[in-house]
Amino acid sequence: MKCYQLWKLGFSDMKGVTVPRTRASPRRRIWISVVVIFIIITVLWAYLYPPQDYSYPVRDWFPSEPTRELTDAETAARVVFRQILSTPPFISRNPKIAFMFLTPSQLPFEKLWELFFKGHEGRYTIYVHASREKPEHVSPIFVGRDIHSEKVGWGMITMVDAERRLLAKALEDIDNQHFVLLSDSCVPLHNFDYVYDFLMGSRHSFLDCFNDPGPHGVYRYSKNMLPEVRESEFRKGSQWFSMKRQHAMVVIADSLYYTKFRLYCRPGMEEGRNCYADEHYLPTLFHMMDPAGIANWSVTYVDWSEGKWHPRSFRAKDVTYERLKNMTSIDVSNHITSDEKKEILQRPCLWNGLKRPCYLFARKFYPEALDNLMNLFSNYTIF
Ligand SMILES: *[C@@H]1O[C@H](CO)[C@@H](O)[C@H](O)[C@H]1NC(C)=O
Ligand SMILES: *[C@@H]1O[C@H](CO)[C@@H](O)[C@H](O)[C@H]1NC(C)=O
Ligand SMILES: *[C@@H]1O[C@H](CO)[C@@H](O)[C@H](O)[C@H]1NC(C)=O
Repeated sequence: MKCYQLWKLGFSDMKGVTVPRTRASPRRRIWISVVVIFIIITVLWAYLYPPQDYSYPVRDWFPSEPTRELTDAETAARVVFRQILSTPPFISRNPKIAFMFLTPSQLPFEKLWELFFKGHEGRYTIYVHASREKPEHVSPIFVGRDIHSEKVGWGMITMVDAERRLLAKALEDIDNQHFVLLSDSCVPLHNFDYVYDFLMGSRHSFLDCFNDPGPHGVYRYSKNMLPEVRESEFRKGSQWFSMKRQHAMVVIADSLYYTKFRLYCRPGMEEGRNCYADEHYLPTLFHMMDPAGIANWSVTYVDWSEGKWHPRSFRAKDVTYERLKNMTSIDVSNHITSDEKKEILQRPCLWNGLKRPCYLFARKFYPEALDNLMNLFSNYTIF
């Protein structure tokens, strides 16, 4: 606006000029040059430093309708999800990230997280769900952050219940715009500003999701989930998500699909099937309800390369600058099918369409790794 007025001023000035039409006086020329330079600088400035805006674009999103007739419960659920996902999110003046820790009791890396959060007060909130016993916190920023907790069984629906409990509690704070689920063995791979901008600036939630046709995937599906969940829609993914507020609302609003998984995705089902709800419920729900809204990979690194039932855990001696740097440089996500083909599905990690390193956090680390991680922290998180 300002530069437009300036420009008009210069222009009307010129119109009043009667004397040499061909050559403006040197003073006029300087004046015009100043105005032109001012305009160029303003435009360049606006281009180089666009206003910070962490709001998400309004989605014209609709879940794809199956061809069959929907049940009443499905129609109701879809209407609710559609409303949540198409409503512009509340724009907070003080947007925060909720860091939700799911742990049996102690959090061995509190001191490391304290280092991570230091100087960023007001931009994060911590929640701790300790399912076995109340932890003794060694860092003041964790004191008083325990939420009401219940017992959690490995691979049981109680794990999903704990995640929903954390989300509901964290949603109470209207400033929380992004929700990260972390475990007691998770550590940060970047500094706070990097993590904050990465998550807040993303158009997607980072929810791991892929189609595994093998025994650890589709074989766990039960026909009892019909008609709402078909086998072709059954998905798998790591439970360690990070999600936007709207998606967190969907999770706690859902009762229909949640109930299907509570009843028909559990260890020790018919024909010796073992289904683990924490690996299938959210990937399947979002694959069905908002596939384009999730990135399909998790921002938490984990090393499955040993091919065992549990991922590799890192000891103190494994914590080196090179290894941590290596984790932060990976920019393709890998999924390996559990059938005999052992197909490796590789995709670039796309952040708003740009290829970027995938991981912000990593697991699993033994408590003994703390000192090495603390010593290296400011080195490996230079960005
Ligand atoms: C995630 O995968 C689904 C297919 O399952 C795809 O439609 C969607 O576009 C993917 N998300 C992104 C951000 O690429
Ligand atoms: C770094 O990662 C690559 C694969 O991305 C691997 O081949 C290499 O051994 C890793 N180096 C270290 C030090 O872990
Ligand atoms: C941190 O990095 C610098 C330069 O890369 C190196 O000289 C220093 O030894 C590193 N510190 C640790 C604790 O590894």
